[in-house]
Amino acid sequence: MSIKCFYYGVSKQLEDTFQATLNLAETYNWFHAMKILVTGAAGFIGFHVCKRLLERGERVIGLDNLNNYYDVSLKLSRLALLEPFEEFSFIKADLSDRAAMEELFATVEFDRVVNLAAQAGVRYSIQNPHAYIESNIVGFLNILEGCRHYGVKHLVYASSSSVYGANETLPFSVHDNVDHPLSLYAASKKANELMAHTYSNLYNLPTTGLRFFTVYGPWGRPDMALFLFTDAILNNKPIKVFNYGKHRRDFTFIDDIVEGIIRTLDHVAEPNPEWSGLKPDPGSSKAPWRVYNIGNNSPVELMDYIEALEGQLGRSAIKEFLPLQPGDVPDTCADVDQLMEDVHYKPETTVQEGIKRFVAWYREYYPTQVSDAERKSHP
Ligand SMILES: NC(=O)c1ccc[n+]([C@@H]2O[C@H](COP(=O)([O-])OP(=O)(O)OC[C@H]3O[C@@H](n4cnc5c(N)ncnc54)[C@H](O)[C@@H]3O)[C@@H](O)[C@H]2O)c1
Repeated sequence: MSIKCFYYGVSKQLEDTFQATLNLAETYNWFHAMKILVTGAAGFIGFHVCKRLLERGERVIGLDNLNNYYDVSLKLSRLALLEPFEEFSFIKADLSDRAAMEELFATVEFDRVVNLAAQAGVRYSIQNPHAYIESNIVGFLNILEGCRHYGVKHLVYASSSSVYGANETLPFSVHDNVDHPLSLYAASKKANELMAHTYSNLYNLPTTGLRFFTVYGPWGRPDMALFLFTDAILNNKPIKVFNYGKHRRDFTFIDDIVEGIIRTLDHVAEPNPEWSGLKPDPGSSKAPWRVYNIGNNSPVELMDYIEALEGQLGRSAIKEFLPLQPGDVPDTCADVDQLMEDVHYKPETTVQEGIKRFVAWYREYYPTQVSDAERKSHP
């Protein structure tokens, strides 16, 4: 809805100036700025979400414990880009610190919460299971409690495509049951959806869970394939190609994920009036609770993803072919019909375009590494 102004007895020029100001106010949301807590603000997705919210004029409180699961300097560089925004403040805290979280919610009145902080990664959950219970379960409970006690109007939180686990019916639909996770990471994300449902039911807290499908792009995560492959290819080291390169992933570009998060954040979860306990739909509820897939709906075989990267880097990878890793699923593909129906949106960025933008960022962020590697291969 656009704001229009009508003034009587003022010149057309003045009227145009007023209207332009109102249009700006509307664009930047000056009248409606919300106070939003974004957890995992120094992380890959959290950083991009904070930036988008700040650009549209919201007041953002970013929280992160800056843990060393991967290079902390990358997290600090992301934060450095958020700091210039006047409406941004940062809190270093751990979600699992109950006292700190209680104090935060008691001190700041948040309109909305976007919970992206978590221990991510399927493979690491095999080495360090406790990290997943502390951040993803205990931490998430602290978020739910804060939202419940301090009247937050909408909680949006990260789930994952990994909840589909052993399901083989593609594309993965939010209307299918997801009761067979293959890793503790996946189980922790499914547990979040269940925990959120109880709070939506008991306390009428609107909650929306977002199942992201393999997110990639600028400022990405160094533990993920695209980052690892780029580094190895530039340094003439072999890349590990699991499942002999045969698995297909619904790789989703970061800007598409952010658009999906913002749209669902603005679309406060409501009860589904058609929901029935006699034939319970797993994707909605009689409580204000929803889950959505955010994925490209266009899976790409790993070998094609690697080929697109080789094309952008202008050099070939040395490939070490290996079997599927424990905990990994062979194929993913998101059914995004529900997202389309409710928020009129579907990710569109192709892997070719997304990888091009990732490589452009990588070359700018790691110029020495790129030029050293290029010097070594073309002395
Ligand atoms: N990137 C993907 O492909 C993907 C796919 C599916 C789901 N997800 C989920 O999306 C969310 C964001 O993922 P990401 O890729 O940005 O990961 P990320 O690791 O880059 O970001 C997570 C951030 O949370 C912080 N964090 C972790 N535990 C914390 C705690 N206990 N307290 C406070 N801060 C803590 C970390 O320091 C990090 O900066 C996660 O919940 C992840 O599980 C990501």
